[in-house]
Amino acid sequence: MNNQIKDIEKLLQSESAELILDIATGRGEFIKLLQNTLKKYGKIIGIDNSAPLLELNRKNFSDHRIEFILMDALKLDFDDGYFDMVTISNSLHHFPQPSLLLREALRVLRKGGLLLINEMVSDPGQSEAQQSHIMIHHWCSHIDRCRGIYHDCTYTKQELSAIMAGLPTESRIAYDYTYPLADPRNEPMIQAYSGLIDPYVEKIKGHIEYDRLKGEAEEIKLHLQEQGYAPADSIFFVLKK
Ligand SMILES: C[S@@+](CC[C@H](N)C(=O)[O-])C[C@H]1O[C@@H](n2cnc3c(N)ncnc32)[C@H](O)[C@@H]1O
Repeated sequence: MNNQIKDIEKLLQSESAELILDIATGRGEFIKLLQNTLKKYGKIIGIDNSAPLLELNRKNFSDHRIEFILMDALKLDFDDGYFDMVTISNSLHHFPQPSLLLREALRVLRKGGLLLINEMVSDPGQSEAQQSHIMIHHWCSHIDRCRGIYHDCTYTKQELSAIMAGLPTESRIAYDYTYPLADPRNEPMIQAYSGLIDPYVEKIKGHIEYDRLKGEAEEIKLHLQEQGYAPADSIFFVLKK
């Protein structure tokens, strides 16, 4: 595995952007990375279609340069070329047609601006501890689909590279990385992940898939206990419009 975290950090530390859009921002984790690494930024807007998440973010972020707006990522309410940088992290697999999302992201990006795409991947060959992350993710995505929420399993690097290759950008660089964890067998961490599993399956109590997914939950908890947990491999694309 090619670990290029240092290269990604170096790149972000050398970048300044006045106006930044983080699409499908969730809890704003990627915005925190931007805040901590970018050389300079003027304003960061995080958009998402989940009102409760945005409400939480407004309480958790004190920087007045960060704004959260409820918006559909496929119908961005911004003019063409409005942003200097657009970012999408761990969200492509939440959209049935990621190329539509990417085209909308490029529309609101100015010529010469950067589109940053960060995605965890499900490539084979990852450690047993990383398999815990992948298993939990895929199981949660299955539950979300039972709830009528579009949430696919994650892509492979090859699938993502093929999607990016179809975009009309001036240049494209891909960085492979794995976020390092000091101790994949850290007991409080394992207990914390295990503790998230049971409440999640209860969201679909009464659904035809409930019993099967509850059974799978036991297998995942056992895997977590025996193998520990580590973040899955990721890929980070830097595309210049
Ligand atoms: C995995 S989470 C985001 C993770 C976050 N970007 C990060 O890096 O930590 C995926 C997000 O996509 C959002 N989402 C899904 N469909 C969307 C849409 N059509 N418009 C805006 N947000 C959407 C969900 O509400 C969810 O918060």
